Amino acid sequence: MPDKKIVGFVPEDEILRQKEYIELVRVILSSRAELSSPKAFVHTYGCQGNVSDSERMKGVLSEMGYIFTDNSEEADLILFNTCAVREHAEDRVFGNVGRLKALKEKNKNLIIALCGCMVQQEEVKEKIRKSYSFVDILFGTRVFHKLPEFIYRKLSTGDKVFDITSNSDLIAENMPVHRDGSFKAWLPIMYGCDNFCSYCIVPYVRGRERSRRSEDILCEAKEIVAAGYKEITLLGQNVNSYGKGLDEEIDFSELLKKINDIEGNFIIRFMTSHPKDCSKKLIDTIASCEKVSSHLHLPVQSGNNRVLGMMNRKYTREEYLGLIAYAKAKIPDISLTSDIIVGFPGETYEEFCDTVSLVKEVGYTSLFTFIYSKRNGTKAAALPDEISHKEKTVWFKELTDAQEIIAEKRCREMRGKVYRCLCEGKARNDGEYVGRTSGNVIIEFTSDRDLTGQFCDVKVTDTLTWIVKGELCEE
Ligand code: SAH
Ligand code: SF4
Ligand code: F3S
Repeated sequence: MPDKKIVGFVPEDEILRQKEYIELVRVILSSRAELSSPKAFVHTYGCQGNVSDSERMKGVLSEMGYIFTDNSEEADLILFNTCAVREHAEDRVFGNVGRLKALKEKNKNLIIALCGCMVQQEEVKEKIRKSYSFVDILFGTRVFHKLPEFIYRKLSTGDKVFDITSNSDLIAENMPVHRDGSFKAWLPIMYGCDNFCSYCIVPYVRGRERSRRSEDILCEAKEIVAAGYKEITLLGQNVNSYGKGLDEEIDFSELLKKINDIEGNFIIRFMTSHPKDCSKKLIDTIASCEKVSSHLHLPVQSGNNRVLGMMNRKYTREEYLGLIAYAKAKIPDISLTSDIIVGFPGETYEEFCDTVSLVKEVGYTSLFTFIYSKRNGTKAAALPDEISHKEKTVWFKELTDAQEIIAEKRCREMRGKVYRCLCEGKARNDGEYVGRTSGNVIIEFTSDRDLTGQFCDVKVTDTLTWIVKGELCEE
């Protein structure tokens, strides 16, 4: 494990210094005719944690005077917030960064910036420096609050700025936020991860686990509710261990209760829960808090104890199933989802079959399934991995086929029942809208009114494999 690091908060005077840089950049931008109404193209890869970080960086860019565009061709600043979780994620970033070269040739004033998990890796930083010389700014996950300073340095000196400092894991509060959605909001409650699952790069690129103070979270949650948002998703790599290392005595269940107590009509979701820290207390809290969705995303990764041990997950199949049984008993309509890795190094077909049997036993609403991807620097990268990718693809299909049957059955069970859902917008067919139930099932329904961003009751009339169809119940 890496050395112990400094964990805490970015000092207030540092945040103020960054705010001064925001002003300096604003002045520079408005003084240059060619940049008079600067446009930024921000693209985010990876998980919701990254999406949330991007919203904070967009908050900063917006204060500088940037407006946002979906068209990279007309941008004056391109920012890619990258992900390193699987090789495929990295390949996509390299491909897309490569394509930016042509844009830079057309527009010399274009600033190209890369940040996030993937570029936090020393070898990636060096590869970008050597082979992608048109990249102007590159910064890692620990310093994203310094974006104003980086842009100022680039604009004022023309020099490249590369910073992947990793010796401190600090939380930056009081940054402006530019939220992408108008009725669904992300709310980070903690950063980093200390679990070191043997396959996973996240603890290396994101640093040590650190929780935000509950007063800061509650203050942001109240702002979100006051602004009219209808759904808050609490984010962290392992929300169940929220509160460790804080001066206050608080755990995730207590935080949930405090957010549940905020007045207003909204739903609370959260992700991700690590089974090793998922307590009966948490399940009781979900059951008792009326605003908390009856959905638990509890990634199991494998259904075999030897593989779970090799993955360093710190729970057994039996313990996991025990939690699931408790959750089903306490919350009969609970919707369960999970992440699964197929083809972990050394996993045998028989061991993989234990995963399929667990999936059938739990009866998940949906699954996020991944073929194991080797990540340099992790423990699992050193393990012999003899099963071919082709073979793993066959196992993968076996698992997704099994889940398809389960999902279809679960959808069928919803038929005839009424669900409260949050309408998310228009569906593909005219006159139809898309909503999401508390259990996170997508429901397409007919309505003659646009109910986007509002809660409504929908009766399920028909089912497809992964989603259900319904009709609006008028009050
Ligand atoms: N903190 C979350 C997961 C974050 S990463 C948790 O512990 O549940 C999201 C998912 O990506 C993981 O749950 C895992 O299923 C998958 N994943 C992570 N590293 C991977 C790798 N090297 N290969 C394949 N899948 C991986
Ligand atoms: Fe990765 Fe495990 Fe941390 Fe999740 S809990 S981010 S899988 S190390
Ligand atoms: Fe990817 Fe980093 Fe999230 S590696 S999955 S963006 S924490």
